[in-house]
Amino acid sequence: MISGRPFLQIPGPTLVPERVVRAISQSLIDHRGPKFAALLQEVLEGLKAVFQTSEGRIVLFPGSGTGAWETCLVNTLSPGDRVLGCINGHFSTLFCETASAHGIQVEKLELPYGHGILSAQVEEHLRADKDHKLKAVLVVHNETSTGVTSNIAAIRQAIDGAGHPALFLVDVVSSLASIDFRMDERRVDVALTGPQKGLMLPPGMAILAVSDKALKASKSARCPRSFWDWGPVLERNARGEFPYTPATALLFGLKESLAMLAEEGLPNVFRRHARLAEACRRAVQGMGLKILAKNRDEYSNTVTAVCMPDGFDSDAFIAHAQKSLDMSLGIGLGKTKGRVFRIGHLGSLNEMELLGGLAGVEMTLKSFGVPVPLGAGLSAAESYLLESAATGYGRP
Ligand SMILES: Cc1ncc(COP(=O)(O)O)c(C=O)c1O
Repeated sequence: MISGRPFLQIPGPTLVPERVVRAISQSLIDHRGPKFAALLQEVLEGLKAVFQTSEGRIVLFPGSGTGAWETCLVNTLSPGDRVLGCINGHFSTLFCETASAHGIQVEKLELPYGHGILSAQVEEHLRADKDHKLKAVLVVHNETSTGVTSNIAAIRQAIDGAGHPALFLVDVVSSLASIDFRMDERRVDVALTGPQKGLMLPPGMAILAVSDKALKASKSARCPRSFWDWGPVLERNARGEFPYTPATALLFGLKESLAMLAEEGLPNVFRRHARLAEACRRAVQGMGLKILAKNRDEYSNTVTAVCMPDGFDSDAFIAHAQKSLDMSLGIGLGKTKGRVFRIGHLGSLNEMELLGGLAGVEMTLKSFGVPVPLGAGLSAAESYLLESAATGYGRP
């Protein structure tokens, strides 16, 4: 047992703020009573603001991001449908595999790990689909496995440029409430997430925002569905309840975390993430290590995937960091297993906490045998934080 705050430097679950912990700890209420109906109404409205949608309908399930993929797909598509699956990492691969598991045929647009989705390729692919056989485009906004953010506005333009009616289905699991995501402006049909990242809650929910077009598609979608059917959820939500026992404690927490995001203001939340992310990247480069993401304008503001120097195994390094400082770092997933470690810098996080995590990375790299100059990474991060504080950048 190490005293003090745990350093959960993984890209989710993130630290749950005290305010949220307290909200979750209150006594449960009847999920069919008037107090619950008021709580639900407040949470649904708050989430719309975070998804930046006035048109979209919010759908909540107990579950996780993986469950959110499933509910998104089974409500909008039918077995045998074709979709364009944009793949640039571990999570986009799994999103597409979920579709395949339901008999949906995935045409893959695959890019190497470290790259964002190329909108020009999306447009070319959709233009070639003259009969509009492709029913949807699947994209992960922020590939958590590689620390790469794809340009959702450009992909929207690509779909429009091709004059294609495909649904636009976007995973915002590690971007919502951290990186600017605009559901209405980008005309996204389903945006899906979980609570354990930017929303600063413990895991345990699947959260979706659904457009009118996606709701219409669900009327003819034939994938078998029962628990994941969003129809009964929307119907019963209109009466202030759910068709099953909801995760009431998480909804208490969500109300509080939405209040915290509203108090800080979404633009400030995005700026804080951008600033901390830049400080982290400068630290990594200061340590003489390489970032996996290839293009600067695609660097993720929620997670940085760091290439382990040749001759060192990242899984062993992560185990070493855990053992020596009780600090958790994200492992390399999919094709990067053993080759990268990931530093999460999202959710409830401030500059001193980030610096603590970066000091931990530096110290444990050194004690693991990687020849990093102690203090070089921290110094780069501190200098940037000071410079950017002086200009007011990132400060509410
Ligand atoms: C981008 C992305 N999508 C989906 C998931 C899966 O979410 P969950 O682990 O909550 O099922 C994750 C998990 O980290 C993720 O980062």
